[in-house]
Amino acid sequence: MNIFEAILTRRSWRTYNGLRLDENTISQVESIISAANAAASEPLTRDAAVPAPRVVLLEDESLNGLSGTYGAIRGARHFMALISTSSEGAQIDAGALMENIIISLTAIGLDTCWLGGTFSRSRFGAAAALADGEEILAVSPVGHRSPSTRFAERMMQRLARSSRRKPFQELFSGVNTPDLSAITRPSDSMTDRERISIILDMVRHAPSSSNSQPWRAAVSPDGRKVRLYSTRHSRYSLLDMGIALDHFLESAAMLGQNWKARLDAAAPDITINLQLD
Ligand SMILES: Cc1cc2nc3c(=O)[nH]c(=O)nc-3n(C[C@H](O)[C@H](O)[C@H](O)COP(=O)(O)O)c2cc1C
Repeated sequence: MNIFEAILTRRSWRTYNGLRLDENTISQVESIISAANAAASEPLTRDAAVPAPRVVLLEDESLNGLSGTYGAIRGARHFMALISTSSEGAQIDAGALMENIIISLTAIGLDTCWLGGTFSRSRFGAAAALADGEEILAVSPVGHRSPSTRFAERMMQRLARSSRRKPFQELFSGVNTPDLSAITRPSDSMTDRERISIILDMVRHAPSSSNSQPWRAAVSPDGRKVRLYSTRHSRYSLLDMGIALDHFLESAAMLGQNWKARLDAAAPDITINLQLD
């Protein structure tokens, strides 16, 4: 499964089959996490002096069910925890790191669910052995979903209108709605403006806290500069922004493009200026 398929396939799953992953899959998960952690040593938006975020894989009975996730997740045997310091850039980079891992896990057929609120910080903190100044920003189960979902899960999906995304033109300006059939064409036959519309459509499919879809983007006339921005709508705004940034950069890379991201710390909104290399 390629990045586009993984982005379009991923969704939040909250009921798992109760089984431990086999050793081969665990070692695949571990290598995906350690490769992503290593790549995250290179800052995306944080200052170079700020420590890199990291993800750890945890396996502990007490993390599941009522005690670990207040009932939000059932039947999961493995969790990832996203650990970071609290600076703005670090939290954006952290969101990008965990989403990058989630997309790779989706591509190998695993299920996940971002949890920013419904988990016990003390239980996960104890299992993850945090250093001074570090906190757990979010966690996710890693496993195979149960063939049948629970009433509570179906309600949660319905309340967040999880499968819905806002129309492209409501979110992005300076760019046409993409013709997604273009995805099947070789990327060197596309114009920069076609590429940016596909990239932003992949941002549109990103998960966000309560499916708030807070990100907006303005594209320059030549399609080579993008201002990606979001209001500070909740305590998860920086993570939401990091997730969108990951969808942007991974989709661009898939189309053979490398963009540089820079956080505009003076802007009142969370603002990332992107420039095509
Ligand atoms: C930063 C962040 C925090 C989230 N926190 C929670 C949470 O605490 N509990 C929960 O059940 N879902 C949580 N979600 C999942 C969202 O509700 C879900 O991603 C959104 O409704 C879109 O649905 P989808 O992931 O199936 O596409 C969170 C998602 C994100 C991105």
